[in-house]
Amino acid sequence: MKALVVRTVLAITSWGWVRRLFTKTRVGRRVALRFVAGESLDEAATVARRLNESGMSVSLDYLGEHVSTPEAAEAARDAYLACLERIASDGLEGNISIKLTQLGLGFDDDLCASALISLSDRAALLGLTVTIDMEEGDFTGATLRLYEATQRRHGNLGVAIQAYLHRTPADLDHIIPLGGHIRLCKGAYDEGAALALQSGVDIDSAYDRLLARLMVSSETIPAIATHDADRIQHALDLAVRREGPWEFQMLYGIRTKLQRELVDAGHTLRVYVPYGDSWYPYLTRRIAERPANVWFFVRALLGR
Ligand code: FDA
Repeated sequence: MKALVVRTVLAITSWGWVRRLFTKTRVGRRVALRFVAGESLDEAATVARRLNESGMSVSLDYLGEHVSTPEAAEAARDAYLACLERIASDGLEGNISIKLTQLGLGFDDDLCASALISLSDRAALLGLTVTIDMEEGDFTGATLRLYEATQRRHGNLGVAIQAYLHRTPADLDHIIPLGGHIRLCKGAYDEGAALALQSGVDIDSAYDRLLARLMVSSETIPAIATHDADRIQHALDLAVRREGPWEFQMLYGIRTKLQRELVDAGHTLRVYVPYGDSWYPYLTRRIAERPANVWFFVRALLGR
């Protein structure tokens, strides 16, 4: 059922007129700004500073994915390098989250590999870390191979894993020994039954099993990326016996009251802060997770 809802919403939001309605109207941009810090690095840095002041660290994500020219891939790499410099120069408590298809994965894997090395090297010099987002199932294998190859340089990378994928338990065998932040999320893309679990209940059970494995691994820093109260409680139960560091991660603009409560209770929380003008695909995934978000748009359209 969950997969069907995601599939339907992602199909509808790919229609040209729906895309134009969101991206070409002031109302659409206003809705996007609920989930996106702004279009510029300055705006993202301002939001990051505010979140730091309220006790939360950040992961800055320069929006974009599936570029198709070397120039676009290099521009994304340069935007991320600028973001790393900004985190360091402003003394922000944060890192960056990147998508490998934004750096060329899929059309020039070598270009992507060298961009990832540049980011990892620069981040290491600045004492920062880089987390790799996980995208559609077609890219999982290549993403993990690049993670493995590059993580060996400085050990300053992390990677997201998706509980809905059948392959994830086996992938963990390879990536746990490499250390780093391992961000456990449910998975946000439209994947078929051959690759991924289809029901919300099955995905939640898989999430809990992976969570239990991560919370006993001494090599990694588990990042529990969810807004789901039951998963969060499960993490809190397991954390009682955990000795090493771990953290919660949530998305900018989602369940902000819960974010505040966790920080007030003394837990470590990192907020994923997206910015940039290529926000539409990101917005469609946030709507697919919660189709009720469309009402937010409709109300804004009606001026309420
Ligand atoms: P679930 O969808 O069950 O939501 C639990 C509750 O949270 C909902 O009942 C609602 O109250 C609230 N909520 C959740 N989503 C909402 C939304 N969009 N709008 C409003 N309320 C919402 N995925 C991926 O495939 N690759 C990746 O790299 C990442 N990276 C990532 C980083 C971080 C920090 C987070 C938190 C999430 C991701 N994701 C991701 C997304 C993830 O896979 C998943 O799609 C979303 O987090 C939604 O799932 P929940 O675990 O929050 O549970």
